[in-house]
Amino acid sequence: MTSYETILIDRKDRVGVITLNRPEALNALNLQVMHEVIAAATEFDRDPGIGCIVLTGSAKAFAAGADIKEMQPNSYMDVYLADWFTAWDRLAEIRTPTIAAVSGYALGGGCELAMICDIILAADTAKFGQPEIKLGVIPGIGGSQRLTRAVGKAKAMELCLTGRMMDAAEAERAGLVSRIVPAADLADEAISVATTIAGMSLPIAMMAKESVNRAFETTLAEGVRFERRVFHATFATADQKEGMAAFVEKRKPTFEHR
Ligand code: CAA
Repeated sequence: MTSYETILIDRKDRVGVITLNRPEALNALNLQVMHEVIAAATEFDRDPGIGCIVLTGSAKAFAAGADIKEMQPNSYMDVYLADWFTAWDRLAEIRTPTIAAVSGYALGGGCELAMICDIILAADTAKFGQPEIKLGVIPGIGGSQRLTRAVGKAKAMELCLTGRMMDAAEAERAGLVSRIVPAADLADEAISVATTIAGMSLPIAMMAKESVNRAFETTLAEGVRFERRVFHATFATADQKEGMAAFVEKRKPTFEHR
């Protein structure tokens, strides 16, 4: 495994864990963090031995946003030519399921990073927000788009226009997070959910992920058609044969991830 400076990497059986590790800056997402997270996630994604990726931060902060000190001196031409923060789009292309385990602040780019993941699991201490407007900018890693799809226009508008944070309970009510767990249990719970997912057939999990994501990109009729074709395709896999045989024979399936 490659070694990194701003993140920690761990493997728990078929689960890959990426921990943001810039405690001095509340895990602010500078360019180095961006490149390292993407490299690590890509490495896990290419590894057939990994069936789910967990992305997490510290107890105090998942990530407090893009690095304001790094952004501050830049001009329009600087950020335009470097195309900040397009590289994060790569994370949305990862085929392996991803879980953001969020404790503490997930603000600005931190909230956006969590929303790029497939599932957000929140500690009861989690706080989400898009406070960019207070800095004289707007979200730049998809926040205005993914937050609106996740929680609807009214709340997304309010959060983007006022910079207000929402706590875990509000985020769960609004549909941003799948579940809230006590902060002390977050890491174990994230690994447990990830282990469950990683125990499924990897190609089938990838197909399920792709189908759910298609709902955000297309009409209902097209999405349903897409899903049906992928459903048909699952019958070409060894794991469909095994999964259904195991049910009929009243035993646990052993998936080959093929
Ligand atoms: N960038 C750079 N440094 C950051 C940071 C950020 N986003 N957030 C926190 N830090 C640094 C602080 O500057 C501080 O460093 P020093 O000790 O060297 O001064 C350290 O982390 C600890 O932070 P605080 O002392 O501020 O901690 P706090 O507990 O008092 O406050 C906080 C916590 C409310 C999260 C506060 O740090 C804060 O408001 N952070 C900025 C949040 C923000 O505006 N995020 C959006 C960034 S813009 C963006 O993300 C654009 C985009 O969409 C791409």
